[in-house]
Amino acid sequence: MAVPKKNQLVGLDIGSYSIKLVEIDNSKKGMILKNFGTIGLPHDAIVEGSIKEMEVVSSAIKNLYKNLKVKNKNVVTSISGYSVIVKKISIEKRKESELESSIQEEAEQYIPFDINDVNLDYEILSERAGEGGEEQAEEMEKDLMDVMLVAAKKDIVDDYVSLLQLTGLNPAILDVDAFALQNAFESSQEDISGCYALVNLGAEELGINAIKGGVSIFTRDSSYGGYQINEAIMSKFDVSYEDAEKMKLGGTKIEAKNRADMEEIFTSVVSGWVNEIKRALDFLATTYPDEHIEKIFVSGGSCRIPGFQKYLELETDIAVEELNPFVNLQINEKVFDPKYLSYMAPQAAVAVGLALRSIGDK
Ligand SMILES: Nc1ncnc2c1ncn2[C@@H]1O[C@H](COP(=O)(O)OP(=O)(O)OP(=O)(O)O)[C@@H](O)[C@H]1O
Ligand SMILES: [Mg+2]
Repeated sequence: MAVPKKNQLVGLDIGSYSIKLVEIDNSKKGMILKNFGTIGLPHDAIVEGSIKEMEVVSSAIKNLYKNLKVKNKNVVTSISGYSVIVKKISIEKRKESELESSIQEEAEQYIPFDINDVNLDYEILSERAGEGGEEQAEEMEKDLMDVMLVAAKKDIVDDYVSLLQLTGLNPAILDVDAFALQNAFESSQEDISGCYALVNLGAEELGINAIKGGVSIFTRDSSYGGYQINEAIMSKFDVSYEDAEKMKLGGTKIEAKNRADMEEIFTSVVSGWVNEIKRALDFLATTYPDEHIEKIFVSGGSCRIPGFQKYLELETDIAVEELNPFVNLQINEKVFDPKYLSYMAPQAAVAVGLALRSIGDK
């Protein structure tokens, strides 16, 4: 379906390490990557999804807009972290109008914040008979409906909206990282009927989204990420954040006497990540004993930490694959260096998923 140009949105993933911008054109011949770029942020500007330095982040966005010559001011961005709760709930079947008036009350028990402090959104996933099937439904339990609840703390939502307004942009949609990632995943795959885990490992956040047949069944965000390695390097070798980043990414030659310490830092942080992912998968296995995760798709810059993917595969006994959000986009190689895109692919997943919003649902 061709969408008029004016409906298109700029996908802006405002991460704690860098901001990523993606524009996608929808043509008769398919989706075309129109624009992609990133800009780094100083380490303290955003901490675990909350904006600490409005002005700094705002001028970074302005610079990114200028560098990439972006004209469109309508933006879709996303939030994540402990201020956002995504939960699938099963409640008694009811009419849409009744759901609207009762959702707040239903949601209260699932949300660890005061209900007055959150923005609540929901989507009906499916209506189904009680566990015993249609016939026994009356005796067993009432018919149920699955509803996806999304609750975000108002202060975080307000911060992101203010940030974009301060930057002179129009926040058209505020999404959630987990859903944007899922969107990118779906557009990159031919078949999404199975059960998969999407793992996004950024600088300060580890996001896990388990999906089945294209519907999210479990999400969790934890405070893990690549920055843990920087922190460990900074304290072990008494270096700055920037130097630690260079050492981490292999830009600085590590002296022979320090190699064992570096190895140890990598191993200990990576095993912490893998354990956290395993905990989530164990929880999933208990909650959905009949489901079987076929594959783990990893994204986020830190999924490239040497050894992580292999170790995750070994420990979970599940195949691990890197999510490439560009794979089904048409790419003009005169404009975009394929090497650069494949290097950046894991970091671009959320932003691509956001940019696809204008073309897809919602
Ligand atoms: N090639 C690489 N190998 C290992 N780590 C990398 C690589 N490239 C980037 N990183 C690390 O990935 C992290 C950035 O990833 P990403 O861009 O996904 O995070 P973010 O979205 O900005 O942060 P968050 O979502 O956690 O707030 C940084 O810690 C960075 O050091
Ligand atoms: Mg991120």
